[in-house]
Amino acid sequence: MSTDAKTWFITGVSRGFGKVLAEQLLADGATVIGTTRDGTAQITPGRGSLTVLPLEITDPQAVRDTVARAFALGRVDVIVNNAGYGLLSTVEEASEADIEHLFAVNFHGPRRIIQAALTHLRAQRSGHIVNITSIAGIAPAAGSGYYAAAKMAVEGLSQSLAREVAPLGIRVTLVEPGAFRTDFLSAHSIRQRNPALGDYAPSAGAVHERLAAMAGRQPGDPARAAAAIIAAVRAEQPPLHLVLGPDAYQRTREVLEAFSAELDSWKTVSLGTDFPAGP
Ligand SMILES: NC(=O)c1ccc[n+]([C@@H]2O[C@H](COP(=O)([O-])OP(=O)(O)OC[C@H]3O[C@@H](n4cnc5c(N)ncnc54)[C@H](OP(=O)(O)O)[C@@H]3O)[C@@H](O)[C@H]2O)c1
Repeated sequence: MSTDAKTWFITGVSRGFGKVLAEQLLADGATVIGTTRDGTAQITPGRGSLTVLPLEITDPQAVRDTVARAFALGRVDVIVNNAGYGLLSTVEEASEADIEHLFAVNFHGPRRIIQAALTHLRAQRSGHIVNITSIAGIAPAAGSGYYAAAKMAVEGLSQSLAREVAPLGIRVTLVEPGAFRTDFLSAHSIRQRNPALGDYAPSAGAVHERLAAMAGRQPGDPARAAAAIIAAVRAEQPPLHLVLGPDAYQRTREVLEAFSAELDSWKTVSLGTDFPAGP
């Protein structure tokens, strides 16, 4: 279905990845239905057509209504769950409110959009669900455990979903970016609680300092990420995982190799837990 993917529904087109993706698609003549919290967006028009719908992604009824409005406009080929933000905190010190809001936006938002869209995608017998997670969903660093957990929750759901919907002609792709120069690390996006407990200064504290120094200087180019996402969706065989950025590629390799080595080291234990073979 990928080469005729013409209508894209994208959450969070106000800025960052969502905005750049929308602009590239519009330049290419696609139809974009984008969401922002206030229903407006400063987006460079192209040959395509743009509809902006209001959506606060933590509102379950608003999610259902917005997805219904999108499909009422016609067929939707690609759903991009992009809206999200980061929470920097140690596991011990994050507040209930911070954790609940993070999961409401980064996990329950996308899964509600997926649930609402599936009835339409199944009827179409085609569609592509693209979930923007993070390298944190593959290789978590200290100081962002809840962000990693929410992104890993999307990873797990998506990998199961991909198996459920493949026979129905629906594809799923997880996009796992490293550090890209969007507003992601800026004060109006990220929520940050620096560790108050000195014990965490060398781990989470050091990571938070590194990220603060990186804000505005991230190596990743969002325009190249958007082009890579479009190319992956249009590929003959779209990937389940699309890791973006040399940093993300390197960290993914390290995780896979460490996992593989540990699996080998503990192989005898892993294989020794069945009931003894008997008559
Ligand atoms: N940039 C990176 O380095 C990086 C790396 C890995 C993963 N990611 C992921 O990429 C995605 C996009 O982030 P970005 O880098 O483009 O960051 P960004 O520039 O901060 O943009 C975030 C977008 O999410 C929207 N959003 C946040 N909370 C929302 C809510 N409650 N309801 C509706 N929309 C909401 C924002 O809308 P408002 O303008 O209304 O706030 C904005 O459009 C996120 O899922 C993020 O986790 C980014």
